[in-house]
Amino acid sequence: MPSTGTALQEQTPRTPRTATPHRLLMCRPQYFDVTYSINPWMNPDKPTDTATALLQWEQLRELYVSLGHTVEVVEPVEGLPDMVFAANGATVVDGKVLGARFRHRERTAEGPAYLDWFARNGYRDLLWPEHINEGEGDYLRVGRRMLAGTGFRTDARSHAEAQEFFGLPVTGLTLVDPAFYHLDTALAVLSADEIMYYPQAFSPGSRAVLREIFPDAVLADAQDAAVFGLNAFSDGLNVLLPQAATGLIGRLKERGFNPIGVSLGELLKAGGSVKCCTLDLS
Ligand code: ARG
Repeated sequence: MPSTGTALQEQTPRTPRTATPHRLLMCRPQYFDVTYSINPWMNPDKPTDTATALLQWEQLRELYVSLGHTVEVVEPVEGLPDMVFAANGATVVDGKVLGARFRHRERTAEGPAYLDWFARNGYRDLLWPEHINEGEGDYLRVGRRMLAGTGFRTDARSHAEAQEFFGLPVTGLTLVDPAFYHLDTALAVLSADEIMYYPQAFSPGSRAVLREIFPDAVLADAQDAAVFGLNAFSDGLNVLLPQAATGLIGRLKERGFNPIGVSLGELLKAGGSVKCCTLDLS
């Protein structure tokens, strides 16, 4: 190979980025509130404003639609204030649906409510799980591999159950910081082979695994992680993430992505943001 052109290559973006349209499932925060505390972000003594939550959620839904995505909605259930966090409702890969089984009794009823939506919407390959798992909050697909969180919510035994059901390699990752209790609060998938994550949220062994598989990953600092900057959705080009994650927004631009800052402050009171509100059906 001739050795010329190196400098030029370094200036050229690695890959031309393209957006892939996704089919997404969301749940209107009609009954949103913080009435219990199951993660360090939730303080039931702090007032919430359902109207603001609805407005911010609607802006996110409209943004998805304007970017060419299809958004389905599941009917919210009164008494399930966290149901807005659709990511936790199930895990969908290749049209197969692994139901969610929640760690806390406050959210238990969400599992059947979401599975029911799938049964009524033409999905035939549904599995009611044996082990606790909180859906796409802890399961993220990167290309033809799945990353799976454990440590706070999803039982590590669920990882083998998911691997057997989906027939895709599942890599387990252990979360260690209670503020980042789901995988999607500490790691986001950017494309079929790229991720961004906050290393300090993971055990030393899991950090080493991530370095091994994704040596070029975008790394988040403590400040970006603290504003939930990793709770992002990417279609391969557009990356929707909390607007306060300014460090990540800069780094994503450098990599040729189109980061779009979103304001979901009301839902952050429950410990959720962009990705938590989004169940990827694609
Ligand atoms: N209050 C919810 C809980 O603690 C927030 C869930 C956020 N969802 C997520 N995919 N990270 O369960």
